[in-house]
Amino acid sequence: MQIKSIGIIMDGNRRWAKENGLPRVEGHKKGADTLEKIARAVFEQGVEHMAVYAFSTENWKRSKEEVDALLKLIKFFIEKRLLKGFGDNVRFRFVGDLSLFDSPLQETIKKAEKINPKAKHSLWIALSYGARAEMLDAARASARGDAPQSEEDFKKLLWSADLPDFDLIIRTGGKKRLSNFFPWQSAYAELFFTDTLWPDFSERELLQIFNEFQNTKRNFGK
Ligand code: FPP
Repeated sequence: MQIKSIGIIMDGNRRWAKENGLPRVEGHKKGADTLEKIARAVFEQGVEHMAVYAFSTENWKRSKEEVDALLKLIKFFIEKRLLKGFGDNVRFRFVGDLSLFDSPLQETIKKAEKINPKAKHSLWIALSYGARAEMLDAARASARGDAPQSEEDFKKLLWSADLPDFDLIIRTGGKKRLSNFFPWQSAYAELFFTDTLWPDFSERELLQIFNEFQNTKRNFGK
């Protein structure tokens, strides 16, 4: 079966840095390299949608120094790597409370969202994203308008309205939790957890997970 949509929780950057005797930001930098490499491999497999957790609402609570370094890296990564390195086959989508970012980062995001609107593949980047904040926003929107009468109508109120259901979710870094990551799209996803820290995650391990997924029988609760 063709895998259409996947989610990845990229965990373990700081532990990787610590294990290698490097400052935290180096873990995030290596994590950005891994993201580019894995996104290429995922799209080569014909997957249409890949969503990654790059910065959660909870990540705002980290030290100012780490938040600033991470956001600087994200801006650099979008400009120098996403916009230049993916050709015209990939579209970029950003999901979260983007109003919390400074205007240069907001401008970079706007620029990235405009390119390749008809591309076959989409890379979804959750930034300042948290599912509870997303749900609260949807509830507020619903209270301002007509109450949605169907699941389909409710989904239209979500920040992630255009993101299809995940076939599978991968979480690296050894923790077995979803951490406020796209619950709507996760409802029937197969979950894969690996102890590998995100910077060390490889194409080989990705393909092993895809293989295992192909051997899983899904019944969607029926
Ligand atoms: C989780 O590891 C990772 C993050 C909070 C940041 C993810 C960001 C990247 C992979 C950088 C690149 C992203 C983009 C879009 C350029 P952690 O910091 O929680 O590590 P730990 O679990 O070892 O503490």
